[in-house]
Amino acid sequence: MSLPTEPRKLIIDCDPGIDDAVAVTMALFDPRLEVVAVTAAAGNVGAEQATANLQALVACLDPPRLPRIGVAATDAALPARPYSMHGADGLGGIDLPRVPLHGGHASEKVIWEAIKAHPRQLTILALGPLTNVSRVLKRDPGIAELIGAVVICGGTAQGLGNATPVADFNFFSDPAAARHVLAEPITKTLVPLETTGQVVYDLDFLERLPREFTRAGRLLRPMLAHAFRAHRQLLGCEGIRLHDVAALVAATDPDLFERETVAADVETTGDLTAGMLVIDRRRNRVWRPNADLLVACDAVGVRDRVLKGLTAAGEAT
Ligand code: RIB
Ligand code: CA
Repeated sequence: MSLPTEPRKLIIDCDPGIDDAVAVTMALFDPRLEVVAVTAAAGNVGAEQATANLQALVACLDPPRLPRIGVAATDAALPARPYSMHGADGLGGIDLPRVPLHGGHASEKVIWEAIKAHPRQLTILALGPLTNVSRVLKRDPGIAELIGAVVICGGTAQGLGNATPVADFNFFSDPAAARHVLAEPITKTLVPLETTGQVVYDLDFLERLPREFTRAGRLLRPMLAHAFRAHRQLLGCEGIRLHDVAALVAATDPDLFERETVAADVETTGDLTAGMLVIDRRRNRVWRPNADLLVACDAVGVRDRVLKGLTAAGEAT
């Protein structure tokens, strides 16, 4: 009989956003994880809204182990969002009760302190622009060797973007931060759009969510109903994609994904290509390998894993 393994220590850096919020909900009730901190970044919504959403989310879910909460930097220069799949408030207009944040330390400080408290044990799951992760590394270059791993929702494996024709939203929002993190000597896993986009949820998924009388259900059902409306109205799709949720599953269930070691970089200045993940696929590659790229996934397996995780969140709330 195998001994129970220690829960994996995780920091979730995110820009909630509906898919971010679903991933946080799953993670907070996954017994395989210890969510040490959840930190806000501007991206899908502005900095203040991202922080407020994260606080409200954690307060509503009231998980058995409360994570530290990081406050998004308000000075991050982000491009205007062409449209929002997440609604004006970033959570599909579910209007969660707002809660005051006691203390309220900057996300980069919370991340730095968590890494110092748990050297080489922490995985950073980056679900938004990499602004905070880049700032932690700039604040203390020596911290890189204390980070266990970084799993990044972002980039494109074949240049099929969402924010632009060739860039995903997270890399497009802060290309310099993405380029900086990718260049750091850290174990990095990239979960690109083409792979997270393989997992599509239909309306049956909505029916299988936790019931409204659970705290998780009260949150998930209206939020994801908005996601279905937004995908239909803005993208003309009947199904929805939850990119950040697939990235969480990549961290918890890596066997559901196929990976390649790649030598990659990020374009930061191109008018047409800013934020594009560029991979050296030359036969006689010159660039040095610096990341694992998840090039495909078992979409049915990921979807099942997501339903199990959300059902567990419902049962616990
Ligand atoms: O491109 C993927 C990202 O775009 C996700 O993090 C999602 O939140 C959206 O902002
Ligand atoms: Ca996100």
